[in-house]
Amino acid sequence: MTISTEIYAERRARFLGRLGGVAAVIPAAPLAVHHADCEWPFRQNSDFWYLTGFDEPDAVALFLPHRPEGEQFVLFVQPKEPSAEVWTGFRWGCEGAVERFGADLAHPRAELEERLADYLKGAEGIAFRVGKHPQVEPLVFQAWAGQLDRAPRSGAAALALVSPCSLLHELRLRKSTEELERMREAARISAEAHELARQVARPGLNERQVQAVIEQHFLEQGARGTAYGSIVAGGDNACVLHYTANNAILRDGDLLLIDAGCSLNDYYNGDITRTFPINGRFSAEQRALYELVLSAQEAAVAAVAPGQTAEGVHDTAVRMLVEGLVDLGLLCGEIDGIIEQGAYRHLYMHRTGHWLGLDVHDVGAYRLGEHHVELEPGMVLTVEPGLYVSDRLPVPEGQPAIEARWKGIGIRIEDDVAVTDHGHENLTAAALKAPAALER
Ligand code: GLY
Ligand code: MN
Ligand code: MN
Repeated sequence: MTISTEIYAERRARFLGRLGGVAAVIPAAPLAVHHADCEWPFRQNSDFWYLTGFDEPDAVALFLPHRPEGEQFVLFVQPKEPSAEVWTGFRWGCEGAVERFGADLAHPRAELEERLADYLKGAEGIAFRVGKHPQVEPLVFQAWAGQLDRAPRSGAAALALVSPCSLLHELRLRKSTEELERMREAARISAEAHELARQVARPGLNERQVQAVIEQHFLEQGARGTAYGSIVAGGDNACVLHYTANNAILRDGDLLLIDAGCSLNDYYNGDITRTFPINGRFSAEQRALYELVLSAQEAAVAAVAPGQTAEGVHDTAVRMLVEGLVDLGLLCGEIDGIIEQGAYRHLYMHRTGHWLGLDVHDVGAYRLGEHHVELEPGMVLTVEPGLYVSDRLPVPEGQPAIEARWKGIGIRIEDDVAVTDHGHENLTAAALKAPAALER
């Protein structure tokens, strides 16, 4: 299943409805240079993609709800040009933008500067995300400034410049049936890759060779590639949360932490972490910590249900981890006091999850002031507690020094979990995590 043109049209209708009389300017991403004049593979801006499904750089979408009789969805795109397309590939051009992508009207991108002010005329305000689109921002400011200059004479102007983010991101936070289907597909491919990786991992391999198995599977299955830089971290490397060097030899007796997920052609993402013994056998210390993280993770997943909050999911994981660490002698004191003081953070220093969707760390509020956003059916979040035992962070005063036998153990277990009407669906359950499934 793919997201159909009708679904993009429905999203636009909902967005236009929410804008009221405010016009929105939503730019596509530009190409990003990697080094010299070589470019990274193109990655569309997720807001623009959500509303258009148009996968070319440097376009700009206008949403014009103040023109009920006129065009409300206008695209500015790179026009068709054989001499450019022979170098960089096919373009839909203005005609394709209308016929294939449902624009009411399309113009060459080069005409944005001269046309923007006219299109914005009569809008109550302009919704544009300042600070993110350096090539488009001066044109929006210029059009806005022109309106403000004329306001005393015309008596009308888009006085306010507002952010489109809260409106748009509220829509993106709640996934439709079709989006959940795409996320199941991203989860399936990502989970299969983790299973393959565990089968090949053995002492003596380089982390990068395991990374190759994972990413090969993503591509073989038709994904665009990785959702983020794969983390393949043997032993103590797993205690570096964003380890991406992936260039060490896997050692007999160490654990291997793999945090990897694919990104589909339409940018829906998987995000899975699994940790297992490289030689197929947990040591006593590894098993104790693994079972603790697993029980915290399973309890946190179980806490995902309508009416609960991401904060509550995090608190569930933290409490179980702290209780277990006290039992193991890695923390001491009263549980509530340790949690309040954060005296566990040298061992667990990140949050338990994040929204997942078109962005890996997807958009949407977690709290509105003091109010934690309640989980609703269609929201998708990761649940990813971990423990990282090393000397990198100082042991807080009053907490026990860490014995050498625990050091160099880094564990995270991460699933992608959708909120359903009565509970949750673990999208990534096919990536095994029970200790018995990880040993051989
Ligand atoms: N892989 C990024 C994350 O887990 O948040
Ligand atoms: Mn994650
Ligand atoms: Mn992850």
